[in-house]
Amino acid sequence: MSDPPNDARPGPQCRLIYKSVTSWDLLSNEVLLEMANTSAENNASRDITGLLILSGERFLQVLEGPAEAVNELYLRIARDKRHGSLRLLSYEPIARRAFDDWAMHVVDLDDLPLPQREMLAAKFPVEDGSVLIPDDPRPALALLLDAKRITLSETERPES
Ligand SMILES: Cc1cc2nc3c(=O)[nH]c(=O)nc-3n(C[C@H](O)[C@H](O)[C@H](O)COP(=O)(O)O)c2cc1C
Repeated sequence: MSDPPNDARPGPQCRLIYKSVTSWDLLSNEVLLEMANTSAENNASRDITGLLILSGERFLQVLEGPAEAVNELYLRIARDKRHGSLRLLSYEPIARRAFDDWAMHVVDLDDLPLPQREMLAAKFPVEDGSVLIPDDPRPALALLLDAKRITLSETERPES
């Protein structure tokens, strides 16, 4: 018997946001890129979408999708030795996704063009030149939405 289509019976959807601190090996762009590609494949197969921010040595990730799949993924991510000091910032049911543009996408805030970095620095505290990842869910979501907007406007910019 074939599997039912993904959208046959959509269960409850949720949004999970956590922050963590990287280990040194993940600060290498190559390793991070490979991790992002593997994550995107895994997430797509589970109908999970999201965004991962890197700022200095800190991560902020949002995961959206079927609650069961998001829960299972978070447990796996929490066991990953490549980062530590995990802190769950928010977990809520959602009627509609806000981060459905990518199965997974990494934005390194330190690599953004100066105007965008200055815009973020005006809104969020900065330490050692990098935007500090907020502890509170509301500013954390605001930072993720800003990163999404910046990334989309960068990719949609018409070629000149
Ligand atoms: C910051 C961070 C974010 C991650 N995000 C994802 C993700 O979105 N999806 C995913 O499948 N794996 C992600 N991973 C990798 C998982 O932690 C894990 O290595 C991977 O899912 C394989 O799990 P397994 O070794 O238990 O099979 C992430 C790892 C880190 C350190």
